[in-house]
Amino acid sequence: MKLVFLFLLSLPCLGLGKTQISSIFSFGNSYTDTGNVLALGAMNQTLGPTVSGLPPYGTNFFHKPTGRFCDGRLILDFIAQALNLPLLPPYLAHNGSYQQGANFAVSGTTGLDYSFFVERNASNTFLLNTTLNVQLEWFLELKPHLCTSLENCKKFFGESLFIVGEFGINDFSVAIMAGKSLAEVRSYIPYLVKTIVKAVERLIKEGALTIVVSENVPYGCLPSVLSLYPSSNAKDYNPRTGCLINYNELSLYQNKLLHKAVSRLRLRYPRVRLIIAEYYRPITKFVKYPKQFGFIETPLQVCCGGGGPYNFNILQGCGMPGVNACQNASTYLYWDGPHLTEAAYHYIADGWLRGPYADPPISTAITEISQQTCSKL
Ligand SMILES: *[C@@H]1O[C@H](CO)[C@@H](O)[C@H](O)[C@H]1NC(C)=O
Ligand SMILES: *[C@@H]1O[C@H](CO)[C@@H](O)[C@H](O)[C@H]1NC(C)=O
Ligand SMILES: *[C@@H]1O[C@H](CO)[C@@H](O)[C@H](O)[C@H]1NC(C)=O
Ligand SMILES: *[C@@H]1O[C@H](CO)[C@@H](O)[C@H](O)[C@H]1NC(C)=O
Ligand SMILES: *[C@@H]1O[C@H](CO)[C@@H](O)[C@H](O)[C@H]1NC(C)=O
Repeated sequence: MKLVFLFLLSLPCLGLGKTQISSIFSFGNSYTDTGNVLALGAMNQTLGPTVSGLPPYGTNFFHKPTGRFCDGRLILDFIAQALNLPLLPPYLAHNGSYQQGANFAVSGTTGLDYSFFVERNASNTFLLNTTLNVQLEWFLELKPHLCTSLENCKKFFGESLFIVGEFGINDFSVAIMAGKSLAEVRSYIPYLVKTIVKAVERLIKEGALTIVVSENVPYGCLPSVLSLYPSSNAKDYNPRTGCLINYNELSLYQNKLLHKAVSRLRLRYPRVRLIIAEYYRPITKFVKYPKQFGFIETPLQVCCGGGGPYNFNILQGCGMPGVNACQNASTYLYWDGPHLTEAAYHYIADGWLRGPYADPPISTAITEISQQTCSKL
């Protein structure tokens, strides 16, 4: 009797039950890429293979590299699983149906257009022309294969979940690597937010009714940023977190503009469920209170890296020969330099699905959902 009871109690936590959401479409970068950049590298000799196609990437869930910049699943994967949908097929690598969704996210890509950086003489570094607007074009190119009539498409996309972001860290990195000052990078941010807003409005025009818009992560906490731009002035670091204040300021500014923009969109499109999904608050919490989440006491240390103060070395990165992962990745917040572990993504995904890290939580936004109690976090 007792066993059966326990089983029934734990059952609702497996997923969000039957929902009206029948597909997911995702736009983004390496925080959500499930194999696109790997496919691009295979197609393009100049670009070449990426480390996300090499072990130990993927080792803790897929048991092989999949192109995800993680040891296991990404937030997007946890959301798909919670909605009882298949993991999102990468648009550039999949030979099959996209009826249950497609992932357009490409690692390394910026939110702002390629031409934006060219015009500002900031294109001399690694820059992919797979930006948000290009991903949107791919979506429109796929559309006739998903639905035909106007009515049919409105219904199809009305039952889809759209996820836009993360965008921003690559916009910052490309500009900084091209020698731009932080003040100049900051001046790009309103354009970035405008690009995101225009993309969201385009999706709404296509019939989207449920859209997750994700924040930027705390850029100044990324072990890669901490390693590449160290400061000899202790005042440049937040004493509570050890993160770089000026670099975090960029993310805070972007997030402030993004929240404002989404509020305006809500007034403009009252029928559309616009969800702001947070990265800044949960990651800051992990950094401040790592033990609460089972993370090591030095949370800015990378699990898979080639040494140095944060165990991040750009010349000896995760996936390269002789670079090993830590024993137990679920005790780490950061997997490689700029990306989180599956364990961290899992906590954030739960916060997006059921609160408190999304407004409204995805489960609330999907009104048709059979609300189930699930003690999590
Ligand atoms: C291959 O990638 C490089 C670097 O991103 C780019 O300059 C080039 O245009 C790409 N070639 C093709 C055929 O897409
Ligand atoms: C795609 O799948 C079809 C049948 O499902 C197969 O005939 C075709 O060879 C596949 N193409 C590639 C590039 O794998
Ligand atoms: C563009 O940047 C390069 C160095 O990155 C510099 O040599 C060149 O003068 C710049 N051109 C303009 C028009 O700013
Ligand atoms: C980037 O891709 C878009 C869409 O495919 C294209 O219109 C644009 O010309 C490309 N830009 C560059 C600089 O290659
Ligand atoms: C890894 O760490 C997690 C969290 O502390 C713990 O639950 C798990 O048992 C550990 N796994 C191994 C194999 O040590």
